[in-house]
Amino acid sequence: MTVVINAREGVDERKLRVAARLLREGRLVAFPTETVYGLGTDALNEGAVRRIFEVKGRPADNPLIVHVASMEWLWKLARLVPETAVTLARRFWPGPLTLVLPAGKGVPEVTRGGLDTVAVRMPAHPVALRLIELAERPVAAPSANISGRPSPTDASHVVEDFYGRIACIVDGGQTPIGVESTVLDLTGERPLLLRPGGLPLEEIEKVVGPVDVHPAVRGELTNVAKSPGMKYRHYSPRARVILVEGDKGKVAERIDELVDELRKKGLKVGVMAMERHRADAFFYLGSSVEEAAKNVFRGLRELDRRGVDVIVVEGVEEKGLGMAVMNRLRKAAGSTVLKV
Ligand code: TXA
Ligand code: MG
Repeated sequence: MTVVINAREGVDERKLRVAARLLREGRLVAFPTETVYGLGTDALNEGAVRRIFEVKGRPADNPLIVHVASMEWLWKLARLVPETAVTLARRFWPGPLTLVLPAGKGVPEVTRGGLDTVAVRMPAHPVALRLIELAERPVAAPSANISGRPSPTDASHVVEDFYGRIACIVDGGQTPIGVESTVLDLTGERPLLLRPGGLPLEEIEKVVGPVDVHPAVRGELTNVAKSPGMKYRHYSPRARVILVEGDKGKVAERIDELVDELRKKGLKVGVMAMERHRADAFFYLGSSVEEAAKNVFRGLRELDRRGVDVIVVEGVEEKGLGMAVMNRLRKAAGSTVLKV
């Protein structure tokens, strides 16, 4: 049985205590963060963490982010906390930034996916923060989707993937940012971006100077040892995804041509774009990269639900949150990216 807790109106202490107790007992609890919903459990409880991998169908070598409610945990979870980590945490926590640091002894190997590093973040969503505080321990939480599916930005998405299979879902309504946290590796000489996300790279560079970008971020195949998450199929709806990127006017034209070509083949075609297009189903991505970030995963799930065979997506400008949106779209599209 899955208990659904309504937290749409914000923090309700009495209800959150129920969810916190479940976390302490090593049960699985899905909760809203400012980025996407997380599927959490006690990060230090090996058996509990193993259950997360099982329920998600997640490969064992893809480590989990450990969520904390106070900065002291940095020193308890990491063997070494560089100055840069403290600077970034002071500036951006709570918020959509995950820091990868050398792991301390206490972090179970399952949680780390076998790596000798640990990823830590303090989420900004008041419900998440209070829940972790009440649980009185770090909470390991991947995005609350079945491995490979689009990340959940609404409790209904979590229900879709996990109802009946986890102890509790805390419903906080739609998540405000819509793409996952930015993952930054601080174990090397220079900060290394492993995953663009809810905190734009430009903001980080304003504080710590130039950041290296892992080649896999832009979709180049490479040695993925640093962040195993990058090598797996991701964010995929059931339908095939075709991403069209390039010059705005040409993209719009190419999308219309594609819709016609595909429909002639008898396929049901969905379009997700910043401008209206005719298609069997249309999803409005928004008028800015921020809106696109909020909508992108919901759009993929919604077009899937409407039963389309193919989803044609308009690329967005790769600035600010646009970098994260394009990263997720390229992964969803696999090799089907058209440059015009
Ligand atoms: O916004 C978010 O980050 C959400 C919410 C729930 O906090 N969580 C999330 O978790 O997106 P997940 O598991 O879906 O993605 C975690 C990413 C993966 O790409 C994983 O490979 C990477 O972080 N990661 C985790 N631990 C790591 C580590 N020690 N070294 C390198 N990458 C790590
Ligand atoms: Mg995920």
